[in-house]
Amino acid sequence: MSQFDFLKDELNGLKQKDLLRSLICVESATEPVIRIGNAEKVLFCSNDYLNLANNSQIIAAAKEAMDKFGSGSAASRLISGTAKPHIELENALAKMFKKQAALVFPSGYMTNLAVLQTIPQKGDLILLDKLDHASIIDAAKSSEAEFRTYQRTQFDRIEKFLASDEYNRKFIVTESVFSMDGDFAQLAKLIELKKKYNAYLIVDEAHAFGCMGATGAGLAEELGLLDEIDIVIATLSKSAGCSGGFVASDKCVIDYLINKARQFIYTTAPAPANSAAALCAVEIIKNAKDKRAKLKQNADYLREKLKNLGLDTGASTSHIIPVIIGDNKKTLEISKRLFEKGFFVVAIRPPTVAPGTARLRISLQCDHTKEQIDSLCQTLGEIK
Ligand SMILES: Cc1ncc(COP(=O)(O)O)c(C=O)c1O
Repeated sequence: MSQFDFLKDELNGLKQKDLLRSLICVESATEPVIRIGNAEKVLFCSNDYLNLANNSQIIAAAKEAMDKFGSGSAASRLISGTAKPHIELENALAKMFKKQAALVFPSGYMTNLAVLQTIPQKGDLILLDKLDHASIIDAAKSSEAEFRTYQRTQFDRIEKFLASDEYNRKFIVTESVFSMDGDFAQLAKLIELKKKYNAYLIVDEAHAFGCMGATGAGLAEELGLLDEIDIVIATLSKSAGCSGGFVASDKCVIDYLINKARQFIYTTAPAPANSAAALCAVEIIKNAKDKRAKLKQNADYLREKLKNLGLDTGASTSHIIPVIIGDNKKTLEISKRLFEKGFFVVAIRPPTVAPGTARLRISLQCDHTKEQIDSLCQTLGEIK
């Protein structure tokens, strides 16, 4: 008996619907092969797409900064928490994204909250893709601006809202590579619309940063559209193999966030060593053409093999490839059987994805070998 039994009842309810979540402890650094308990597993659900989370140069940069600046920042950025590595990282990110300035946050989630709670204001409208990440949805819900959603190619619906004179300013917010489906936003079309109606475009490059574009800045860079994005958001916790999030835009946007964003003002600054590590990662990413090419090659190869097995990979065109199963229980079972056979592929269920679309979310790393991918497909073919 516990005074919290009311929570247990709810947890039991989740279990009955195959929606209960629990933690798995990894006992090694993040690499394509990790150790869990006494067994090795080939990891196919990491967002460390360029395999940088255990990179020796980045670790050395973090160690050097830790020796110099210590283990923590000890205050918020506006008190005594701003250290040289934060500024150096922000300058490097601004330059990479061809913006006037950038600002780093402790996480990508906080970055989305900060931007959408602070920049769009009362009387404004935030237009969201229905499948935008939870951090974007949560941020829009907690903003004083109103929000509406659209489905990926519902351009007439977007246009209807943009044309409305009910709102002061209008902000379209989209991921560039969608985190659960691995498809791309229609950036060129969204830019056309935002220009036509004098709106703003905010793009979260969380899953494209590092992986796409000549210098790894993301999908907008790949498409030659970086200049057209008004506010770029991304994380340092996926391809950069570190942690944190950032925003890059006009200097007045960054100055405004420094002065107004509660997620910036009322939290301790990221550890300087973390920013030093991220700066090193950014330098590696700029020159990681070969890693990007290998990542794409791995993704194209796996997607084709999964399709040949008759599996539903949805709309994926990137290094994120869902295998859509539908039923929660079946998805969990397949994930469990894969685990027993040495593959770690997590089952993604509602509310992360829509009911009836439970899936294995396979994510590739540039250092996955052809043999590891072949072996995953062979096992999936046997147990599907
Ligand atoms: C599109 C998108 N934005 C933001 C985030 C949050 O980033 P972080 O994990 O750094 O908080 C994620 C993933 O977690 C994401 O997929």
